Amino acid sequence: MSSTSNAVLTADQVWMDGKLIPWADANVHVMTHALHYGLGVFEGIRAYPTGNGQLAIFRLREHIRRFLDSAHIIMMKLPFTEDQLVQACIDVLKVQAGRFPNGAYLRPIAFMGDGAMGLGAQNPTRVAITAWEWGSYLGDKGIREGIRAKVSSFTRMHVNVNMVRGKISGQYVNSILAKREAVLAGYDEAILLDISGFVAEASGENVFCIGRHGVVRTPSLSSPILRGITRDTVLTILKDLGRPVEEVSFTRDALYIAGEVFFTGTAAEITPVREVDNRQVGEGKPGPITLSVQQLYHRVVRGQEPRYAHWLTPVA
Ligand SMILES: Cc1ncc(COP(=O)(O)O)c(C=O)c1O
Repeated sequence: MSSTSNAVLTADQVWMDGKLIPWADANVHVMTHALHYGLGVFEGIRAYPTGNGQLAIFRLREHIRRFLDSAHIIMMKLPFTEDQLVQACIDVLKVQAGRFPNGAYLRPIAFMGDGAMGLGAQNPTRVAITAWEWGSYLGDKGIREGIRAKVSSFTRMHVNVNMVRGKISGQYVNSILAKREAVLAGYDEAILLDISGFVAEASGENVFCIGRHGVVRTPSLSSPILRGITRDTVLTILKDLGRPVEEVSFTRDALYIAGEVFFTGTAAEITPVREVDNRQVGEGKPGPITLSVQQLYHRVVRGQEPRYAHWLTPVA
């Protein structure tokens, strides 16, 4: 497994059930329902340094809305409003001011707590927000030089099996099986196909494929994919760069003969893919469109592009 995924995490404070508490006290009982059956929802959000020791959270409200949508999909009642959760994300960083000079990753999670056991139980919902420093998910080298991906033997589940608009804890077993298979086989990341054999997404990222003539494609939202917020950011950036994207289905061999492939995700940011299933993609290094998106994304999240300033929530 890659060392970046295994990094030991610490910070000082965690927001839990409405209060800031020390990191070491943010524990749950072993009878926590979600631990047994996976009934939880979560988010991954990044805050970036914007200069003068300040942090800003990228597309915070969109992440919290998706969090609330995920909870709604699994019929989990959250005892906090959108505004309270937005403020809690700000507070968990504010109380640790100076702790994350290189930026932070925020993990809101809501899950069914302990009490009754069994699939019909209705225990109180617990909510926590943790922040820690998390470097490039697929490694700095991966971001710079591109990664090697493998089409998985695991399939993205059918839309009647997975609730694809939700970021639901239990659904991630499918991603973990695919990721482990890929890493144990010597690759960096897994690409999952849908049940018809079309490219869906990577284990924790959306996929973009650029044909040799510069046409950019990504699977549409009718595929069994998470509606990635980075995917949406990149669609906007590409449109503003005068390069609209086709949201269409494509097969794995379209990746083999692509000029460029890249993944998008809050954790992975913009990660170029230099090889798929042992076929070199394009020149075998990040291509010009990938690099321009990557460079612009890097500036946007750090508040260096005023036209996208509305996506940033300062931690103040
Ligand atoms: C399965 C999956 N697809 C795509 C993404 C990318 O989504 P986002 O850009 O909102 O982080 C993620 C990460 O949240 C994910 O877990």
